[in-house]
Amino acid sequence: MLMPAVELHVHLEGTLEPELIFALAERNDVELPYTDLDDLRSRYSFTDLQSFLDLYYANMTVLRTAADFADLTNAYLARAAEAGVRHAEVFLDIQAHTGRGIPAAEVLAGVTGALGASEREHGLTSGLIVTFLRHLPGSEALAALEEILALDVPLLGVGLCSTELTSHASEFAPAFDLARANGLRLVAHAGEEGPPQNVTDVLDILKVERVDHGVRAMEDPAVVERLVRERVPLTVCPLSNVRLRVVDTIADHPLRAMLDAGLVVTVNSDDPAYFGGYVDENLRQVTEALDLGPQELTTLARNGVAAAFVDDARRQELS
Ligand code: ADE
Ligand code: ZN
Repeated sequence: MLMPAVELHVHLEGTLEPELIFALAERNDVELPYTDLDDLRSRYSFTDLQSFLDLYYANMTVLRTAADFADLTNAYLARAAEAGVRHAEVFLDIQAHTGRGIPAAEVLAGVTGALGASEREHGLTSGLIVTFLRHLPGSEALAALEEILALDVPLLGVGLCSTELTSHASEFAPAFDLARANGLRLVAHAGEEGPPQNVTDVLDILKVERVDHGVRAMEDPAVVERLVRERVPLTVCPLSNVRLRVVDTIADHPLRAMLDAGLVVTVNSDDPAYFGGYVDENLRQVTEALDLGPQELTTLARNGVAAAFVDDARRQELS
């Protein structure tokens, strides 16, 4: 199968596999509220985004030291390389860690150390996108970015995630303005559970260059027309959409309709440890369920390369 060379939408914390949760709990003397792996896995059944986020944030308590974050990052990079990924842009929910007392410097030392060695150790290039949590105030996003900038770590961009349903994008404009002023690339989750207007808002107010998910844009032809005209990439995550009940089944996924509409869509894994597969499995399942052919698969691969935040030389190599 034609594999996409890039992955542009994956939360590092969403790659935290059950086995690693137990191993880190043991290493750090964290008491887990699960009897064993099967008990934990039995909870991986979600009714919506929030029901997933509650478990996702709870499981992060096992991540405490730079070594833990490095192990998490290396485990993802190894799995991505196995899937054929040659360039990955990974999300990190830094506030989910600083908010429980882990210093940003500790988190970033582990993550950026592993990402910095990704080419040598795993054969893929990578970049870090720090994602602000939308359920927290915009002022905290701004403070988080100020703290990270002062640490002077390698940073590719900023994003916005967590629930879209309880805040307005404008709250995060100061943080995105500061990121832009510092030459960072800009993305945001929108149009996953929220309406098409949320997609318009992150484009107009936060001036993002890519939209994460964006599947609900399909409900508004004017928004679709704009995304096509402006060639705004959408990082779509099919298995996530099924597991979080954005769509009923993989066969109902709008990916083919999005391609047919001329949208610049890419296929990604979101939180693969929770949703039943990494980027290769996402692609395999949509290919089968939507009967995608060589033309669609080539377009998906090309879209990924076009949407990546890389320089011309690297884009050429990935093409
Ligand atoms: N954080 C991790 N996964 C997410 C998703 N699918 N939507 C919003 N925020 C997230
Ligand atoms: Zn996501």
